[in-house]
Amino acid sequence: MTTSLPRPDRIRRAIELLRNDTTDKFDDVFGFSADEFIDPALAQEERDYVFGRVPSIVAHGNEIAKTYDFITVQMPRNNVLVVRQKDGGVKAFVNLCRHRGALIEENEKGRCRVFSCPYHRWSYDPDGSLRMITRDNTFGEIDRSRYGLVELPCEERHGFIWVVDNAQASINVAEWLGPEMDAILAGYHLDELVCFRAAGFDEPTNWKIMQDAFLDGYHIQYAHPNSAGKIIHTNVMAFEDFGRHCRFIAPRKSIDRWLEEDPGDQPLDPYVTETHFLLPNSTLLRQPDHFQLLTFRPHPTDPKKSRMEQRLMVPSVEASGIDKDHWNNRWEKNWQILLTVLHSEDFPLLRNSQHGMGSADAGDMLLGRNEVANQVYHREIRKLLAEGRAAASR
Ligand code: FES
Ligand SMILES: [Fe+2]
Repeated sequence: MTTSLPRPDRIRRAIELLRNDTTDKFDDVFGFSADEFIDPALAQEERDYVFGRVPSIVAHGNEIAKTYDFITVQMPRNNVLVVRQKDGGVKAFVNLCRHRGALIEENEKGRCRVFSCPYHRWSYDPDGSLRMITRDNTFGEIDRSRYGLVELPCEERHGFIWVVDNAQASINVAEWLGPEMDAILAGYHLDELVCFRAAGFDEPTNWKIMQDAFLDGYHIQYAHPNSAGKIIHTNVMAFEDFGRHCRFIAPRKSIDRWLEEDPGDQPLDPYVTETHFLLPNSTLLRQPDHFQLLTFRPHPTDPKKSRMEQRLMVPSVEASGIDKDHWNNRWEKNWQILLTVLHSEDFPLLRNSQHGMGSADAGDMLLGRNEVANQVYHREIRKLLAEGRAAASR
């Protein structure tokens, strides 16, 4: 396995794997069972011990660029409101009124100076503090400082907004990423990119079935014969395991011109996609000229449902040096291709997998030695669950 070689060397390693018709591999296959995708008790543990304990990405900072811009996000444990603050920072709150629990903000996105509850019109400032109680001469004396919106741990780092879905927890994204992945993300300057599009898809499929498909270099030519399969090599990954997160280089077919000939000092970036798995639930794809983020969240109650979000992060119009229409057309075309592959190829297949996992006699299943990123994902989720169980029983 590759360990922290410079990028040109990692790409050369991918060429070497391709020449030898192989891929980086773990020593053993990895077993799992179908009930991991349908068991409500396990789903509850995943919500509490994974999303309730560790940071995950909820947006790119550019999506709430201006003061008092907000988004709402259904996290596994809480419905969350994320607001850009006056000082440029971000805060996240449980999206719920402290009077009698009405949803404070119904919209997915917007800008708001005062969040006002539709039920009895209590209102809250963008920093979460309780601003006004209607008819307060009749309501009764309360300590208003105790009835602001409930705040969740939230941090902006490497251009993304991260949340731990638990008001009792704390957040430290650098520590969570670890020195390797933190340095890798810092090197990408993702905060300088703009989020061209972000979209969410609610699917009748467990979040792990979804996440697995987007760490998988093995299915490409079989499930995507007329799209991705024509462009990217199947089952070739130059892989690095960082112990919690991982990344791998997958060569494009255009790299084949360097199979016979030595590329010398030629830049090899246009010939690969580099995929980063950020535990617990994101795939960050580094393409030659842009980044794509895929995020997978369990449904708050149903193990057979999840939401996937896709984001396209690209250089701004100014940084690209092309005119706005050209820029728009270019990325819109790219976005539409991504959507088509998702909706017509991946999603139907994965819905059927979910259906299959419901079989009473599904039997044991396996990840191969070649399914390295999937092995890391399942290994690390199991580790988090074990830690959560241990902490809960103390
Ligand atoms: S529930 Fe919000 S003001 Fe009553
Ligand atoms: Fe796929």
